[in-house]
Amino acid sequence: MFFHSIATLALAASASAAIINVDVGNSTGGLIFSPEAINANPGDQVIYTFHQKNHTVTQSSFAAPCSPLDGGVNSGFMPVAANVTDGFPTFTITVNDTKPIWVFCDQAAGTPASHCGAGMVHAINCGPDGSANSFSGFKAAALAVGASLQSQASATAPPAPSLTTADYGTATIPAAPVESTVTVTVTVEASSWVTTYASYPGSPAPTPASLTGNAHIVDVGNVNGSLTFSPPFLTDIPPRDIISFRFNPKNHTITQSSFAAPCLKADNAIDSGFMAVAANATEMPIFNVTVNETAPLWFYCRQHSPDGSSHCGAGMVFAVNPVQSSPRNFSAFQLLAAQLNGTNATGAASSPNASPSPTGSGASSSMATNIALGMGSLFAVVAFLL
Ligand SMILES: *[C@@H]1O[C@H](CO)[C@@H](O)[C@H](O)[C@H]1NC(C)=O
Ligand SMILES: *[C@@H]1O[C@H](CO)[C@@H](O)[C@H](O)[C@H]1NC(C)=O
Ligand SMILES: *[C@@H]1O[C@H](CO)[C@@H](O)[C@H](O)[C@H]1NC(C)=O
Ligand SMILES: *[C@@H]1O[C@H](CO)[C@@H](O)[C@H](O)[C@H]1NC(C)=O
Ligand SMILES: *[C@@H]1O[C@H](CO)[C@@H](O)[C@H](O)[C@H]1NC(C)=O
Ligand SMILES: *[C@@H]1O[C@H](CO)[C@@H](O)[C@H](O)[C@H]1NC(C)=O
Ligand SMILES: *[C@@H]1O[C@H](CO)[C@@H](O)[C@H](O)[C@H]1NC(C)=O
Ligand SMILES: *[C@@H]1O[C@H](CO)[C@@H](O)[C@H](O)[C@H]1NC(C)=O
Ligand SMILES: *[C@@H]1O[C@H](CO)[C@@H](O)[C@H](O)[C@H]1NC(C)=O
Ligand SMILES: *[C@@H]1O[C@H](CO)[C@@H](O)[C@H](O)[C@H]1NC(C)=O
Ligand SMILES: *[C@@H]1O[C@H](CO)[C@@H](O)[C@H](O)[C@H]1NC(C)=O
Ligand SMILES: *[C@@H]1O[C@H](CO)[C@@H](O)[C@H](O)[C@H]1NC(C)=O
Repeated sequence: MFFHSIATLALAASASAAIINVDVGNSTGGLIFSPEAINANPGDQVIYTFHQKNHTVTQSSFAAPCSPLDGGVNSGFMPVAANVTDGFPTFTITVNDTKPIWVFCDQAAGTPASHCGAGMVHAINCGPDGSANSFSGFKAAALAVGASLQSQASATAPPAPSLTTADYGTATIPAAPVESTVTVTVTVEASSWVTTYASYPGSPAPTPASLTGNAHIVDVGNVNGSLTFSPPFLTDIPPRDIISFRFNPKNHTITQSSFAAPCLKADNAIDSGFMAVAANATEMPIFNVTVNETAPLWFYCRQHSPDGSSHCGAGMVFAVNPVQSSPRNFSAFQLLAAQLNGTNATGAASSPNASPSPTGSGASSSMATNIALGMGSLFAVVAFLL
C-alpha cells in the first residue's frame, strides 16, 4: 500500500545514509554557503564546515528567511580567525524527512551588515526553480530583508561627519562647509552698496567697520625669536580691516595657504617675501594685508630653520576669521601643519595666549607694502557671512 511503500523507501534511504559537505563562508571571507542548495534523503547527514569569519548555520522559514525558526536547528556562532588554515569547526544536520530545510547565517542580524541580508542563505530539499518554494525565491526574500535593513539604517543614521583628505600627505581633515550665494545691501557711514557673495557658515557679517576699516597689528615672530604669530588668529574681522604684520628679528614670511594645504603657497597667494630683520633692529618692517571677505584666510611662514625643519611645521601659522565653532578651527589648522610638515608635531611652538602688541615700534618702513582697498573697488567687495 501507498503509505507502506514510503516507509520502506525511507528505511532503505537511511540504510545507505549519505554524507553531504557544505562550506560555510570561504578563505576570503565570502558570505556564501557552497553549495547553496542541496537535495538530501532522510537519514543523510549534512556536514557544515565553517571557514574564516564568524558564521552560523541557523534554520529559518521561507517566509522569514533571516529569523531563527522556533525549535529549529542552530549551530551558534563559529568564529574562525583569518590566519587559521585547517581544523575548521563543523556542525551536522541530520535530515529526517524530505521537507525543505531553510538555513541562514545569523551574523549581524537586524543590522545593515547582516550576512543573511547579503544573501548568505542555504536550503536542503527546496522546490525547483520557478516553484513557489524555490531557492532563488528564498534568496531573493533574504536580499529584500537586507535592502530594508540598509534603507532603515540610512534613514536613521546621524549624518556622518564629512571628511576629506589634505592636499598633500595622507591626513584626513574636515570637509569645507557648503557655501551659498547671498545678495545684500551693505550700508557703512553715508555709503551703501549691494554685494553678492558666498555665505560661509559661521563667518562674520560682511559690513565693514568703517569705510577705511580698522587696523590690527600681528607680530610675526617675537623679540625672543620664537616661531609664532601673536595673536595666532583674529576673528570677527570685517571686510576693509587691515592686518599689519610686524616682522620681529629673524627672517620670516607671511604667506597665504589654504586649510587643506597649510604649508603650501596658494595660487595667487599674498606673500610678504622673506623679511630679514637683524637682532638689534629697532624699527620692525610692516606688511599690510587688507581683508576683502569674511571667509577664513589661512597663512604660514615659509622659512626653514638651519636644521631643515619648517617654521610652518613647528606651528608658525596664522588665520583670519577661522570659524572657531567648527572642525576647521585654528587649532585644527595648526595641528594639520604640524602633522604634514612638522616632526612629531603638536604645534609646539605656538603661543595661543600671547597678546597682540598694538603699540610699539614704528608702523611703517621702507620694506612695507601697503595694500589698500580703493574706493573704486567698493562694489567689488566679496564677503562671506553666516
Ligand atoms: C569567496 O566567496 C566570494 C563570494 O561570496 C567570492 O567572490 C570569492 O571569490 C570566494 N573566494 C574564494 C577563495 O573562493
Ligand atoms: C562572533 O559573533 C558573535 C555575534 O556577533 C559575537 O558575539 C562573538 O563575540 C563573535 N566571536 C568572535 C570570536 O569574534
Ligand atoms: C593567529 O593569530 C593569532 C594572533 O593574531 C595567534 O595568537 C594565533 O596563534 C594565530 N594562529 C595561527 C594558526 O597562526
Ligand atoms: C532530526 O532528528 C534528530 C533526532 O531527533 C534531531 O536531533 C535533528 O535536529 C533533526 N533534524 C532536523 C533538521 O530537525
Ligand atoms: C622673552 O623671554 C622672556 C624670558 O623668558 C619673557 O619674560 C618674555 O615675556 C619674552 N618676551 C616675549 C615677547 O615673548
Ligand atoms: C632669509 O631667508 C631666505 C630663505 O631662507 C634666504 O634666502 C635669505 O638669504 C635670508 N636673508 C637673510 C638676510 O638672512
Ligand atoms: C646692529 O649690529 C650690526 C653688527 O652686528 C651693526 O653693524 C649695526 O649698526 C647695528 N644696528 C643697530 C641699529 O644698532
Ligand atoms: C583685497 O583686495 C586688494 C585689492 O584688490 C588686494 O590687493 C588684496 O590682496 C586683497 N586681500 C586679500 C586678503 O586677498
Ligand atoms: C610642506 O610639505 C609640502 C609637501 O612635502 C612641501 O611641498 C612644502 O614645501 C612644505 N612646506 C614647508 C613650509 O616646508
Ligand atoms: C577644533 O579643532 C580641534 C583639533 O582638530 C578639534 O579637536 C575640535 O573638536 C575642534 N573644535 C570644534 C568646535 O569642532
Ligand atoms: C620624534 O620623536 C622621537 C622621540 O621623541 C624621536 O626619536 C624621533 O626621531 C622624532 N621624529 C622626528 C621625525 O623628528
Ligand atoms: C599699514 O596700515 C596702517 C593702518 O592703516 C597704516 O597706518 C600704515 O601706514 C600702513 N603701512 C604701510 C607700510 O602701508
